[in-house]
Parts: sequence; structure tokens; C-alpha cells
Amino acid sequence: MIKTNNGVDFASKVLLRFSDNPSDTWSIDDAVKGTSIMGGTGSGKTTASGKRLAQTFLKEGWGGLILCAKTDEAQLWRTTARKQVGKMT
Ligand SMILES: Nc1ncnc2c1ncn2[C@@H]1O[C@H](COP(=O)(O)OP(=O)(O)OP(=O)(O)O)[C@@H](O)[C@H]1O
Ligand SMILES: [Mg+2]
Repeated sequence: MIKTNNGVDFASKVLLRFSDNPSDTWSIDDAVKGTSIMGGTGSGKTTASGKRLAQTFLKEGWGGLILCAKTDEAQLWRTTARKQVGKMT
């Protein structure tokens, strides 16, 4: 188990809360084990859920690699990354 400076288990750190329910969270442990986003075509998997997860990674100081099948989505990710990093500097 890896502990942070304040003695908290690193993997259990909560990155996102999805509701007021205390157990409805997304932790570092969840993030590194894999996350699947499911939904119909055009339901917001990329521009809502995916974008929020990517912003959260950047806030934590993490990097990442995004592979896009849709060519116009590369610009979405560049803009998202630039804006998020801009907020942090
Ligand atoms: N909750 C929402 N309200 C309004 N518009 C939305 C919402 N969710 C997504 N959209 C819009 O719908 C369009 C498609 O969204 P997005 O590309 O994120 O869907 P997707 O689930 O990733 O689709 P695909 O399965 O094709 O990858 C985008 O233009 C997005 O702005
Ligand atoms: Mg998509």
C-alpha cells in the first residue's frame, strides 16, 4: 500500500464524486484498473464523461495518451488539455 504525505492510502484517494452518495466515487484505484463509459451514439461519452475524466487526470498532474478514431476529435482534446493546463498555471 502506497501512502501519501498525510498517511492516506494513495489508491483510495477520491478523484471524482458522481452524486451525494458517499460511495458513488471514482478513485485512483478505479482509474488505474480501467474505466469503461457506455452509452448510445451521441449520448456524450466523449464530450461529457471522457472530457471530465481527462480534465481530472490533468488536475492531478498526470499525462495520458488519447487515440481518436474520429479525426475532428483530436482538436477537442488539444483544446481541452490547453484550457485545463491554463487554469492550473
Ligand atoms: N447532455 C447533453 N446535452 C446537450 N448536448 C449534448 C449532451 N451530450 C452530448 N451532447 C452533444 O452531442 C454531440 C455528440 O456527443 P459525443 O460526441 O460526446 O457523444 P458520444 O457518446 O461520444 O458519441 P459516439 O458514440 O458517436 O462516440 C456533441 O455535439 C455534444 O456536444
Ligand atoms: Mg465518442
